[in-house]
Amino acid sequence: MTANTNTLLEVRDLTVYFQGQNKHQPVRAVDGISFAIPEGAFHALVGESGCGKTTLARTLVGLQQATSGEVLIRNQNINSLLKNRKLLAKDVQFVFQNPLGALSRRQTVYQSLEEPLLIHNVGNADRRRQRIHELAELVGLPLSSLDRLPRSLSGGQRQRVAIARALALEPSILICDEPLSALDVSIQAQIVSLFSQLQQKLGLTIIMITHDLAVVREVCTSVSVMYLGKVMEANNTEPLFAQPAHPYTQALLSSVPSPDPNTESTRQRIVLRGEPPSPMAPPSGCRFHTRCPKAVPECSAKEPVLKPQANSGLIACHLV
Ligand SMILES: Nc1ncnc2c1ncn2[C@@H]1O[C@H](COP(=O)(O)OP(=O)(O)OP(=O)(O)O)[C@@H](O)[C@H]1O
Ligand SMILES: [Mg+2]
Repeated sequence: MTANTNTLLEVRDLTVYFQGQNKHQPVRAVDGISFAIPEGAFHALVGESGCGKTTLARTLVGLQQATSGEVLIRNQNINSLLKNRKLLAKDVQFVFQNPLGALSRRQTVYQSLEEPLLIHNVGNADRRRQRIHELAELVGLPLSSLDRLPRSLSGGQRQRVAIARALALEPSILICDEPLSALDVSIQAQIVSLFSQLQQKLGLTIIMITHDLAVVREVCTSVSVMYLGKVMEANNTEPLFAQPAHPYTQALLSSVPSPDPNTESTRQRIVLRGEPPSPMAPPSGCRFHTRCPKAVPECSAKEPVLKPQANSGLIACHLV
């Protein structure tokens, strides 16, 4: 999880503050995050509502300006990539929770898929048609759907269109913000397996925000656990689920049923007290200490740093 030669996306000490009701107390949505995502990873961002996942994701694609810190794609600062928007679009694309919001109501599927190709001057009409057919096949859309409008498609088909459109320019990174939560449960599994296939077939790097930890365990290769604008723990999926080290991760994962019946029979649900504190005034020291079942006096006095641990993960906790 630290930067190395095949790092595709890197974030260095990133903060994103918003102006809140109180002029002197900004909302610290993202409050000092660093990580490195290697090429080909399927990385999950998890954490309670309001911990800053969407803000972080939007900053990674330049939809949100950082307050401080850096986002680098292949070692290039995205601010320089953003000066040439076209260049950034070929690097990263965003898939939203609600595909209807991402598609124009008046455009047919064909037009939606052609638009990015037109904007980026890709090929002539024949070449574009060929590419649109390729994209439809890639995401499992029947060619008969190309002439239809988004409202006449099912939710799952719409999300396939949004994914195809995001892939039109062959980006290296796809950032998906709760791409499943607007879909029927029965369709979610199909879209999850589509992401998994795309990641393998295209060598795509995916960052997915989701509340569904069972999906994370099934398809993601690595995970960052966020709390109140910070990463508390980051690790490869298997060790993270087998041995969550941070008390917050332990609580979060304790709600997920284990596929192993032996572990499942001994699973104990850890229920956290209260609501997450306000991101306008995060607690002193470790910002999780006010809800941590294991907190000691040091936790409210000193902020723990996210550090590498023996099992290859990164953890920000005084007790580990
Ligand atoms: N434009 C904005 N102006 C002011 N505050 C904002 C803005 N966008 C987000 N916030 C605040 O920043 C914090 C993080 O919000 P964000 O949407 O990134 O969280 P999230 O982890 O995506 O939550 P959820 O799981 O509910 O989608 C929240 O306290 C939110 O109210
Ligand atoms: Mg969100």
